Amino acid sequence: MSSTPRLKALNIDNINPHVKAAKYAVRGELAIKSEEYRAQLRKLKDEPPTPPAENKLPFDTVISANIGNPQQLDQKPITFFRQVLSLLEYPNLLDHSDVLLQHLDYKQDAVDRARWLIKEIGSVGAYSQSTGVPAIRKSVARYIEKRDGFPADFNNIYLSAGASSGVNTLMHIMCANDKSGILVPIPQYPLYTATLSVLNARCCPYYLDESTGWGTDLETVRKSYEDAKKDGTDVRAIVIINPGNPTGASLPRSDIENIIKFAAENQLVVMADEVYQTNVFIGEFISFKKVLRELQRDNPGTYDHVELASLHSISKGMVGECGHRGGYFELVGFDKEVQEQIYKFISIMLCPPVTGQCCVELMINPPQEGDPSYELYYKEYKGIEDGLKVRATALYEAFKEMEGVDIGEPQGSMYLFPTITIPEKAQQVAKEKGKNADEFYCLELLDATGICVVPGSGFGQKPGTLHFRTTFLAPGTEWVGRITKFHKEFMDQYR
Ligand SMILES: Cc1ncc(COP(=O)(O)O)c(C=O)c1O
Repeated sequence: MSSTPRLKALNIDNINPHVKAAKYAVRGELAIKSEEYRAQLRKLKDEPPTPPAENKLPFDTVISANIGNPQQLDQKPITFFRQVLSLLEYPNLLDHSDVLLQHLDYKQDAVDRARWLIKEIGSVGAYSQSTGVPAIRKSVARYIEKRDGFPADFNNIYLSAGASSGVNTLMHIMCANDKSGILVPIPQYPLYTATLSVLNARCCPYYLDESTGWGTDLETVRKSYEDAKKDGTDVRAIVIINPGNPTGASLPRSDIENIIKFAAENQLVVMADEVYQTNVFIGEFISFKKVLRELQRDNPGTYDHVELASLHSISKGMVGECGHRGGYFELVGFDKEVQEQIYKFISIMLCPPVTGQCCVELMINPPQEGDPSYELYYKEYKGIEDGLKVRATALYEAFKEMEGVDIGEPQGSMYLFPTITIPEKAQQVAKEKGKNADEFYCLELLDATGICVVPGSGFGQKPGTLHFRTTFLAPGTEWVGRITKFHKEFMDQYR
């Protein structure tokens, strides 16, 4: 027997290199380290050693401000949603609706909605149609019609396991080979660059303009497009995240119109990631679908060929049901044969989670004024919305006061993305440790405070600039003070 250790059939040198090349910082090194700290603190609490030992960490809670995951940060689920879901999971409860109504605070509309969904679906334990339950897709179409004032066809609605799965599907369909490219805003949510890496396709970055509140400048987009074409890239689509992640910016109507016109001129698919459509503090959300339909109405024939895919999710807004994995995308103007291939592609995964599909129904068709559940629903929804604004403002005010930090007013989504100026000495130390300067800053912040944020390099940033992204989801504002204290000490140490 040889004593040389045998290589595993699968080893780091023979797995898919495109997976290895993909980067996804929101769940990267910092997030892993923060989970280790959390486990350490939990162990100390759950299995106190004898004799008692001191917590060696300089903090007693970990704050996961790295990802938009509201219920991980103590956001309570909306009661109406969970009441309906509980009945779908265990329909026998419906045989005791008197108990539900009289003793468990269920309201008649929750019971009725559950009965209707069960009638349409059967059991949530069964696979649904690949594109999702038709009755829910019809509800989504009605929601879009009401939102935009233009018809929507439920045959073009595809329910998905979160928006991520929708993006994955569309990218698989659009990227035909290693010359296929997609215009992606920078900074961006790294789902886009990571998926392009996995598909061995090209990311064609266009920079958002920080000086105009992270605006989308058409000339910059055009230049990126032309540069990509010069490199031999077959540019297939343009991604827009509106409202933005990590920037929070909402696009004004004129920018949406310009992008649609640009896409029409250059035969690009428009991929509008609209998962933050209800998280808007400044400006208003206008959907790409609405602007496209208005352009088509006002300019007969000119924009009829535009292909638009727009995505939404139950993970964001005031819903925050990330773990249920629900979302949808709507296709407009797509070729019928392409849609058949999309159908086949999603069928390979069978169907999105059926309870996630039901959450989509509840999100887009919540209790209305006059319904028995409305009062509580509104109170909970408003409470979450107001809490987000209060925390965003507290963070913003704190960041404004911090040395070398530049930040625009919170505009929406769930994030702030300040610019940081890192002293030369700290940049040198970062280099010695093989880290980007913003990564080093965020690691030091985590080690000192237990707060996990994501370095700007994880989203892309203009060369020469440094940022970090934090969510404003964590309850209370005490942790904001931890950041300001750390920052002052960091600056003093490296000044
Ligand atoms: C812009 C953007 N798109 C898509 C997603 C994915 O969301 P989902 O949970 O619906 O997959 C996120 C998640 O943070 C996001 O920020």
